[in-house]
Amino acid sequence: MISFADEIKQGIPSALPAPKAWDPAINHAPKRKEILSPAEKKLAIANALRYFPKAQHAILAAEFAQELQTYGRIYMYRFMPEHPIFARPISDYPGKSAQAKAIMLMIQNNLDHRVAQHPHELITYGGNGAVFQNWIQYRLVMQYLAEMTDEQTLVMYSGHPMGLFPSHPNAPRVVVTNGMMIPNYSKPDDWEKFNALGVTQYGQMTAGSYMYIGPQGIVHGTTITVLNAVRRLAKNRHDIQGKLFLTAGLGGMSGAQPKAGNIAGVISVTAEVNPKAAHTRHEQGWVDEIISDLDQLVARVKKAQAAKEVVSIAYLGNVVDVWEKFDQTGVHVDLGSDQTSLHNPWAGGYYPAGLSFEQANDMMANDPEQFKTYVQESLRRHAAAVNKHTERGTYFFDYGNAFLLESSRAGGEVMAANHIDFRYPSYIQDILGPMCFDFGFGPFRWVCASGKPEDLEKTDDIACAVLEQMMQESPAEIQQQMADNIQWIKGAQENKLVVGSQARILYADAEGRMRIAAAFNEAIAKGEIGPVILGRDHHDVSGTDSPYRETSNIYDGSRFTADMAIQNVIGDSFRGATWVSIHNGGGVGWGEVINGGFGMLLDGSAQAQRNLTSMLHWDVNNGIARRNWARNENATFAIKRAMEAEPLLKVTLPNLVDEQLLEDLF
Ligand SMILES: NC(=O)c1ccc[n+]([C@@H]2O[C@H](COP(=O)([O-])OP(=O)(O)OC[C@H]3O[C@@H](n4cnc5c(N)ncnc54)[C@H](O)[C@@H]3O)[C@@H](O)[C@H]2O)c1
Repeated sequence: MISFADEIKQGIPSALPAPKAWDPAINHAPKRKEILSPAEKKLAIANALRYFPKAQHAILAAEFAQELQTYGRIYMYRFMPEHPIFARPISDYPGKSAQAKAIMLMIQNNLDHRVAQHPHELITYGGNGAVFQNWIQYRLVMQYLAEMTDEQTLVMYSGHPMGLFPSHPNAPRVVVTNGMMIPNYSKPDDWEKFNALGVTQYGQMTAGSYMYIGPQGIVHGTTITVLNAVRRLAKNRHDIQGKLFLTAGLGGMSGAQPKAGNIAGVISVTAEVNPKAAHTRHEQGWVDEIISDLDQLVARVKKAQAAKEVVSIAYLGNVVDVWEKFDQTGVHVDLGSDQTSLHNPWAGGYYPAGLSFEQANDMMANDPEQFKTYVQESLRRHAAAVNKHTERGTYFFDYGNAFLLESSRAGGEVMAANHIDFRYPSYIQDILGPMCFDFGFGPFRWVCASGKPEDLEKTDDIACAVLEQMMQESPAEIQQQMADNIQWIKGAQENKLVVGSQARILYADAEGRMRIAAAFNEAIAKGEIGPVILGRDHHDVSGTDSPYRETSNIYDGSRFTADMAIQNVIGDSFRGATWVSIHNGGGVGWGEVINGGFGMLLDGSAQAQRNLTSMLHWDVNNGIARRNWARNENATFAIKRAMEAEPLLKVTLPNLVDEQLLEDLF
């Protein structure tokens, strides 16, 4: 059998490998919508055959046509490699460039069967978040990375490696673009069509940028959100006790809610219609109890409220029934949200009240029009029940899942008095935006490239020591965020969050990110730990322009622009990033967001020290400067502090107008 290194170096095999059997044990991507005309199907096949010598075309043309008919895409399953795919220690990768090897490690982590959602279709998460479009692209990219030197840059067009181009050692080794479209061609069906043609892909955020680290990122983000939401209601830890959080969804991301509720110290009730999802989370220890009877639920919650318990309860059933029941029985809900998949309302993202799980699945497949009317009716009921609670003081926020958008489209009472805004804020508008992003706090993640758990432990200690030191010097405005992240990192080992690579995430501001990275680089130089790969997710201060999510707390009209995300990736690329990426369409949909990210290998060198300072400073302060220009008070505070610390930083500050002056103008 061919060795791992030899198979990587081989790239596209000269002789056709045997066809691969379909593995029913693997979670596969759904069949994609039929979208291409016969002429376009021919074009898709011709496009796919570009990778192969003519002599193989007859066999492969028939095979690819079959894949296109059966799955709606050409994945080239036959070319799946023999080697198992997972993040190996960096020293196991063949090649001439340590930076390129770091990228191979991250690519393999994104396609690891334990990590990826549909590994055989090269989808990491979100149903369509692709690393590559097909297996030949995987093979070619790994081969290019194994042969490239630090005098070259690999250029990636939506999964397709255009090739190696001469550059210089401090240029990015890889530049990734995913789904970049002429703006008029960015509707959901455009993705279906151009992806089926094999000329673009949906990179989501950390899928197509090789920076996914499993569920840890979600647990952290949800914990920070729930903690800060609870704080809006309670002044101190004592006040938090006994508060009730009601929400829905125990799926991919939403399943982190009960765990976050426990860490935040509240009682949480999470409704879930799918018994399999609820039991999985219960078995994993992410939710404490499961109740399937509404009267029992009410009794259990009242008991928990009286005893001020910290407990997470899964209700096996529809969330609408819970909102209504709690209203009828006088259960006071302090905090409410929803994480059903309403970005996908008609095809299983939202289960309507009044139908069992099985009935809903049946109607969805056999009578989609009728199903749609049930969903709309349910959303109107859902919104009405939430409104009754908020009138009595419940704090409700939208969790970026399009609950308010779809409820409004269904005719639910969720609009504000001005008929423009929603009645309730999104989690970014009220929580993450002003409390985290405007101060520069955002996701900072790292992967220990040695693959050793003891390296991760040492980096946890280093990061914690840096944050504790900074805590003593920080202004009051950011003390809480620092404290939360110190608490998180202290509990990280115990919470066993690692799936795949030895990775960690926390939230830090620009100074925190630079200081932690510098401390890692020093420890590498001293030989205390192996190399470290830095990155972040794209749900951050500067990297993402997304008017209904990351930039929803921008109120100067610029939230529909994408200059910030584009500036960010360009700026990162010439300040020392090891790779950069820019994407159209993340968690909120194709055409709805532009988001970018980076990766950086720390090897203990003086060059790595210069790069991390220069790039991380820009990577955070770019967004703070923009948020400040949008008149976000906390961002102005943060950018002024940054200017005091760095004399070369000079940012344009906004002058605020007296509202009274505008009052009489029109
Ligand atoms: N967690 C985050 O940080 C975050 C951030 C932004 C957006 N979101 C959004 O949250 C949504 C959920 O993501 P996910 O990955 O968990 O999706 P998912 O589809 O895996 O999980 C949603 C769950 O909700 C359940 N459900 C649907 N309708 C229900 C109902 N009426 N009552 C009770 N349960 C119901 C489904 O059975 C499913 O298990 C998505 O729209 C996502 O974009 C999450």
